[in-house]
Amino acid sequence: MKRYKREDILLVYSSRTGNTKKVAEAIAGALGIPALPVEAQPSPAGRGLVIAGFWVDRGTADAKMKAYLEHLQGKSVALFATLGADPASDHAAACRERATALLGAGCTVEGTFLCQGKVSEQVVAQMKTMFPPGHPHALTPEWMTRLAQASSHPDEEDLKRAQQYFLGFLAQDGAV
Ligand SMILES: Cc1cc2nc3c(=O)[nH]c(=O)nc-3n(C[C@H](O)[C@H](O)[C@H](O)COP(=O)(O)O)c2cc1C
Repeated sequence: MKRYKREDILLVYSSRTGNTKKVAEAIAGALGIPALPVEAQPSPAGRGLVIAGFWVDRGTADAKMKAYLEHLQGKSVALFATLGADPASDHAAACRERATALLGAGCTVEGTFLCQGKVSEQVVAQMKTMFPPGHPHALTPEWMTRLAQASSHPDEEDLKRAQQYFLGFLAQDGAV
C-alpha cells in the first residue's frame, strides 16, 4: 500500500440516505482531512490519492459518483462503498468491479473497502407498495432477511474497520 501525506489526499463521497456520509466522516476524522460531498465537485488536481465513496445503486456506483469517477484521469484512487448486500457476496464483488471499470483513463485503484448499509425504511415501504405479494418482484423472505441484516449498518465496528483500512494510506510524519 502506497502512503500519502494528509494534504495529498482528497476524500469525496456521495450519499443519499446518510450511510456513506457516516463512513466518509469516520474516515475523514481518522485521517484528519475533510470529507467533501460530490455535489461540491472537489478538484482532484495536485492530489496524489483520491478516496471516493459511493452508495451502490442497482449494482454499481450511484449516478453522481459514477459521473465523478468517469472524469478522473491518471489518478491513484481508493474506493469505498456501502450497499445493502453482504460485502463478502458475489454481488458485492461484481459491484466493486463495475465501479472500478468506471474510472477514467490512466487511473489505478489502490484499494477498496465495502460495508453494509441499511436500506432506508422509506425505500423498503416504496418497494412493498410497488411490488406487493404475488408480484414477480415482490420482496422474498431471503430479501427480507438481507434487509434485516443490513438494518444495523454501518455500525461502530464498520466505522472502525474503515478507519483502520484508510489509515494504512497515511504516511507517518516525514515518512513518505
Ligand atoms: C434505488 C436503490 C438501489 C439500490 N441498489 C442496490 C444494489 O444493487 N445492491 C445492494 O446491495 N444495495 C442496493 N441498495 C442499497 C444501498 O446501496 C444501501 O442502502 C446504501 O448503504 C445507501 O447508502 P446512503 O445511505 O449513503 O445513500 C439500493 C438502494 C436504493 C435506494
